[in-house]
Parts: sequence; C-alpha cells; structure tokens
Amino acid sequence: MTGEVHGIAARRAARQMIAVAGGPDLLIKTLGPARIESPLAALLDTRQTTEHHVDEGDRVLLDDTLSMVRARGGSVGELPSFEPAGPRRKIFFDPSKTRAGIVTCGGLCPGLNDVIRGLVRNLTNHYGVRRIVGFRNGYQGFIASYRYDVVDLTPESVRDINVDGGTVLGTSRGPQDPHEIVDCLERLGINILFVIGGDGTMRGAMQIANVIGERGTRITVLGVPKTIDNDIPYLDQSFGFQTAFARAAESIHAVTVEAKSTPHGVGLVKLMGRHSGFIACYAALARNDADVVLIPEVAFQLDGDGGLLHHVQRRVQDRGYAVVVVAEGAGQEISHSEQAPDDVPSDASGNTGLRDVGALLRRRFAEHFAAAGIEASIRFIDPSYAIRSVPANPYDSVYCVRLAQAAVHAAMSGRTEMVVGRWRRRFVHIPMAAAVSKRNQVDPHGDLWMSVLEATGQPVRFGD
Ligand code: F6P
Repeated sequence: MTGEVHGIAARRAARQMIAVAGGPDLLIKTLGPARIESPLAALLDTRQTTEHHVDEGDRVLLDDTLSMVRARGGSVGELPSFEPAGPRRKIFFDPSKTRAGIVTCGGLCPGLNDVIRGLVRNLTNHYGVRRIVGFRNGYQGFIASYRYDVVDLTPESVRDINVDGGTVLGTSRGPQDPHEIVDCLERLGINILFVIGGDGTMRGAMQIANVIGERGTRITVLGVPKTIDNDIPYLDQSFGFQTAFARAAESIHAVTVEAKSTPHGVGLVKLMGRHSGFIACYAALARNDADVVLIPEVAFQLDGDGGLLHHVQRRVQDRGYAVVVVAEGAGQEISHSEQAPDDVPSDASGNTGLRDVGALLRRRFAEHFAAAGIEASIRFIDPSYAIRSVPANPYDSVYCVRLAQAAVHAAMSGRTEMVVGRWRRRFVHIPMAAAVSKRNQVDPHGDLWMSVLEATGQPVRFGD
C-alpha cells in the first residue's frame, strides 16, 4: 500500500486490508491529490538504503514482536501499519499562497514553545510559507466574543521563545463551537491549522475537520499531541514527558533526603497522572530509591497486614525511613469512601475531578504511626505545576523540533485529521480518530510495571 490514497475505491480497498489484519484504522485522509513539486524534493532524490530511512511509500508496522504478528494472521501486506512521516516529493498546497494558523490548548507541557517555533521555522525556511498566525488562548482564540487578536508569527518573532516554558500563545481548556471556529478560519483565509493539545483538543479538532468537510472547504487540520501524562496511544512517548519526569525525580530526591534525615521519616510525593501513572513510574525509576509507587492502573488497600500502611511501617522499622510516590489518580476508590462530601467538579475539558490522594495518605500515615506508637515525621511534596511549566530539556527539544517538521511536511502534502508521533522510534502519521480511540496506560502485566516492582520491592498488590 502506498502513502498516497486517493479515491473511494482505493480507500475501500485499503480499509478492507486493514480490517483483515484486525488492527485499528490507520488510513490517513488527504484533501486531494498532491500535484505541486515540493521545494524539498531534491532532498529525497538520493536513494537511501540505511535501516534508519523509511521511504515515503513504505509503511511502519504497528506490531514489533513475532507473536503479535502471528496473532494477526493474514499476509505481511495486511498487517496494520502507519504511514511514515517526512517530506513528500509532491505537495498539495502552493507555499506562496498558503496561510497557516497555530493554536495551543489544554494544560501546559514542556516543549510547547519548541513546537510553535519548529512549525514557524520549517514552514518559512523550507517551504517559503510567509503568512503564519497564532491564535491566543486555545480554542477561545477563534471565538469573536473573546476579542483576542491573532499574532503574526515569523522566524524572528519566535527566535527565543523556546528558552521559556509555557506557551507564548496562551492556552485554555474546553471546547468551542466548531462552526464559529471554521467561520474564523475562512475569514482569515487559513489553509492549514496546527492544533497542539491532548485528547480533548484532538476531539475538538475532529469536530472542526467535520465542519470543514461539510462545507467542502479545503483546510487541513493537523495535530501535534501534547500530554505530560503520556496517555495518548500509538506514541513511544509524548513530548515534554521526559522533562516532566526528570523534574519530578528532583522532588523524590528532596523528599528522600528529608525522610532519611529524621527519625522514622516517611517521604510522600504526589505527582500528576490522572489516569496513567507513567510520570510516577519513570520518576521513581530515575531515582531508584522509592519504596512504593502507587498508580491509577493498580488498585491498593490501606489497611490489613498486606495493606500499604503496614508495608510502609515495616520499611521504616527495617531501614529507618520510607519513600512513597503516588500519582494523583491513584486510590480514587479509597479516597471516595473516605472523603465526604463527594463534590469534586469536572474541569472544562470534561475530566472528572480527582479527590486528593496525597492529603488522604498523609493523614492516614500520621494516624497509623501514632496508633503504632511510632513517632514518625511525614514529609509531603506536591510539585504539581512545577513539573510542567519548565522549558523542555535538550532531549525533548529535539523531539519537538522533529515532530514540528513532520507536522509541516504532512500538512503541506494535504494530509488532514491526523497527528504526528513517534512509534517504535519512527516518525509516523496517526489518524486523529485512532489517537483518541483509547488511553495509553501502564500495563500492570507489562515490563515497565515489573521494573517498578523490582526497583521498589513492593508487593504485586497491597491487599489481603
Ligand atoms: O492532563 C494533563 C494534566 O497535567 C494532568 O496530569 C493534571 O491532572 C491536569 O493536567 C491538571 O491541569 P489543570 O490544573 O491545568 O487543569
């Protein structure tokens, strides 16, 4: 199957192939045939044969083990696969007549400014797109009643923005009327909209693309997925995640020093991670001195001989101190039964409110040690926004630049309703529908959680 798919028959055939292999629908939509010679075509002229190069007509396999491939059945050509990212010889948009827009939505994440900068520089320097605007404060920036100006973005205006965390465009949570958004795009003559955000943002982007489709307008909607929780599927890792967990590891170190330095010290760190405990797992492994890691994916009990409280007490008695790392979404059932009244509101993105597991654990540790006649010192750190408001580290900066480049190449070729990502170390195109179809979570039976269990020595589960 080639990277370019045009026409209903070709699309149906491709869908059938994907259905045979039993995988997700990974077909990428395009606005139409790409007929314009790309200014980057010369780059692709030399035939490349190294294992690091993926040709634009090749596909990147979804599965990477023999057993997964065998379980699919069918032939090699039927295996589910992604379209590779990268420059195409032919593009859809005429750069000199193209106008692009960029918006950032949702919570902060290290690297947002790197992505904005990368998009602007690649559009301008490589394709010669001269008109790029930024929309302020997320999807609100398109809505007339908010009265936000658009910002002209040039390589000069974005030159130093990656030095700072946050986003120069501002951000907000929550959907806005997709019809009003498309009205705004049409009014400004935008051909390409880059949307940087999480799953809620991508759902909003799909609604925008639907309205565009209904109106028969030729506007590309291209996503760069953003989440420090690393919970978007079909990505090796999301940008900013590495910076965030490195920062979180500093809090684990601080709390460990505190716990070690007091008699019967208990260090407790609460980290972000609403439904996915990746930050907690990676930060804990980075320091490799936590005694317990608690994540949303693995339920636990506090009381009883096999419960968390006794385990922490034993560690304190054996070693003098203990360190517990908890993801904010862990133990919600326990918090629920213990915290009344139960009025934790959802946020504007529709995320269910979380009960404060940090406060709960802190109180229960204090009560437990007091009841056991042990004078414990509980030290609690919640670094919260401090881990996501920082600039990207060099690793994430590189990742952001490459994602931005991939997004520009895809957009200029007329691809739409897709996000860019890295899968098994290859940059690929992922349909937005697939990117929001499920949540990436720590597998309680997978090797990451096994590493955490090995590193902490905690039991497989806290319970009876
Ligand atoms: O969705 C990412 C995230 O960082 C979560 O881990 C966290 O619960 C949430 O954002 C908090 O963001 P805000 O306070 O901006 O709504």
